[in-house]
Amino acid sequence: MKIAVQKDYDAMSLCAARLTAEEINKHPELVLGLATGSTPLGMYRNWIRMVKDSSLSFAGVTTFNLDEYLGLPPNHPQSYRQFMNEQLFRYIDINPARTFVPNGISPDPLRHCKEYDLRIEKAGGIDIQILGIGRNGHIGFNEPGEDFGQLTHVVKLSESTRQANSRFFPSLDDVPTHAITMGLKSIMKARKVILLASGEDKSEAVFRAVFGDVTESHPASILQLHPNCIFVLDEAAASKIP
Ligand code: F6R
Repeated sequence: MKIAVQKDYDAMSLCAARLTAEEINKHPELVLGLATGSTPLGMYRNWIRMVKDSSLSFAGVTTFNLDEYLGLPPNHPQSYRQFMNEQLFRYIDINPARTFVPNGISPDPLRHCKEYDLRIEKAGGIDIQILGIGRNGHIGFNEPGEDFGQLTHVVKLSESTRQANSRFFPSLDDVPTHAITMGLKSIMKARKVILLASGEDKSEAVFRAVFGDVTESHPASILQLHPNCIFVLDEAAASKIP
């Protein structure tokens, strides 16, 4: 595992944007795994700027998002599909038909999970997976205790995650209780993983991911076993790393 520590959020975002842009420029038909949440927004803004100044193109890129709330339709303001459209896809030259987000209102979510895995496989697998990290060490919606061996599946969200995400909903009761997420096995299958973390409140989760035991009680710790993983951190998120 490599660790790149940048001064602050903006520097972390630029570093991650450059790392990925370099790869996309080398392999224009790259398959990207994407995350939502606050952390990757700065990187997405840099990608948008690069597309505008023609130093980057997503014309040949395919994307698969990590997760989606179960029960939210794609056009719901808090769905992750809507988030991706609003924060990234509408501003870049990507083919919308090649952007995939799990369907939160599939009539058969278990079957949908299998189809999502198949679609990733058919696209040739994920070349670069972008991740954030939760304060409890979750990646995607893989909460502590989640089996390391899972592909895309349905999960029950922990109370701490629902509370953290309630800032985007009118009230805690409006936060869905379940989600569809790529599993830890899906994430480990990606050829390269880039995890972003910013802020002091992520420092303990980052420390345990890098130096703690590899244990299902801290999902991000599995990344210690990934052959090509880089943590791009700001100084605050790295502050517990000796
Ligand atoms: C979102 C996702 C989550 C977030 C994590 C951190 O698609 O997979 O695991 O990456 O909850 O969220 P932020 O970046 O908002 O702190």
